[in-house]
Amino acid sequence: MPAERLILRRPDDWHIHLRDDAMMKAVLPFTARQFARAIVMPNLKPPVVTAAAAAAYRARILDAVPAGTGFTPLMTAYLTDTTDPDDLEQGARDGVFTAAKLYPANATTNSAHGVSDVRRIDAVLERMEAIGLPLLVHGEVTDRHVDIFDREAVFLEQVLAPLLDRFPRLKVVLEHVTTRDAVEFVRAGAASGRLGATITAHHLLINRSDIFAGGIRPHLYCLPIAKREVHRQALVEAAISGEGPFFLGTDTAPHTVAAKESACGCAGCFTAATALELYALAFDEAGALDRLEAFASLNGPRFYGLPPNEERVVLERAPCTVPDVVLLADGDGVLPFRSGETLGWRYGGAV
Ligand code: DOR
Ligand code: ZN
Repeated sequence: MPAERLILRRPDDWHIHLRDDAMMKAVLPFTARQFARAIVMPNLKPPVVTAAAAAAYRARILDAVPAGTGFTPLMTAYLTDTTDPDDLEQGARDGVFTAAKLYPANATTNSAHGVSDVRRIDAVLERMEAIGLPLLVHGEVTDRHVDIFDREAVFLEQVLAPLLDRFPRLKVVLEHVTTRDAVEFVRAGAASGRLGATITAHHLLINRSDIFAGGIRPHLYCLPIAKREVHRQALVEAAISGEGPFFLGTDTAPHTVAAKESACGCAGCFTAATALELYALAFDEAGALDRLEAFASLNGPRFYGLPPNEERVVLERAPCTVPDVVLLADGDGVLPFRSGETLGWRYGGAV
């Protein structure tokens, strides 16, 4: 008989977009309700490039954390061609920075200030390697002549492999992997213990055909874009494997409904409203609920050298309707992934 209840250590989300202001106030409670800690992406407008800016952003997040949740935001630096290695190091030593994020320039939302050529930041990467600060990578090339569905695989070969060779002790997380190629690449480097990968819930649940099922579905558009079914299957297989390098990172990326449903819609799926329920669904479908705790609560802390959370939470096999549009204080709204649908798992909070 399949399990009816699943108790696991409180998980962490190793990749989220919290935004700022009214949007942050609206979306943060969803993440804080389920996760103890989260790696917060720095692609604000303007981006979070200095330790001082990250400390100020962290203070704004902590101000908005709902009372009683004890949520801890882990901050990241947005790397640019002119990042100062000393500021980065000081930020890491002061406990402001947990990691730094590499956005290839113009790869995705608010990445215009990203790194134009990874060789330009060798001094920064050298410093990160020396002090043990992890590099988080948006792994897509930006050359518009490379097909959008190939941009991750080409990045592995052209950018990531040489980078790992140049910095043999640098800790690297390949964020939101979407291809079998990426899974194989991470596995091949697993023995070093310095290469990890996050996997989103939406990439476990959709393939590229879903984006066009019956018409164009802007709320399923994200970057890296979902790939063929064989790739989705490889991601599921990696997530449920229990292997150390693979851990939970939702990449929950809220945009207003207007910004999504537009002639040039923004990339991002807002999954935070039911993040754990969505992962439970994917693991249950694969018959691997017993492996969810390793993926959601153990592998991430181990990679980052942090203790796993002590508290336990429960997921129950019960209907859970994904909320309707989440209204922001300024009148806009955000539509959760699978809004209005009933999922077969419900998050029951701490036990
Ligand atoms: O779909 C995405 N949305 N991918 C990213 O890399 C960025 C994110 C965002 O910030 O909206
Ligand atoms: Zn992201």
